[in-house]
Amino acid sequence: MSYGNGESNEAEEREFDLEMLREDLVGELNAINQYQAHIETLENEEAIRVLEHIRDDEKEHVAELTKLIQKLDATQAAKFKKEGL
Ligand SMILES: [Fe+2]
Repeated sequence: MSYGNGESNEAEEREFDLEMLREDLVGELNAINQYQAHIETLENEEAIRVLEHIRDDEKEHVAELTKLIQKLDATQAAKFKKEGL
């Protein structure tokens, strides 16, 4: 975006980035649920172990995205702090 004054433009760009990052966070959370559901359905032990590993990688992605979001969103950071996160 290249309109408006510099300050509001920067805020708009940050909010646009935050909206994308929140969508990515939703995607990671949905992925965890999907892997978990498949783990509970699969019969093959090797497949279960691999999906458990992938599911736990997705949990790391949730943590990474959450860290990034709170860096860009001061209100979110304050809410995490209030909850002891
Ligand atoms: Fe992921």
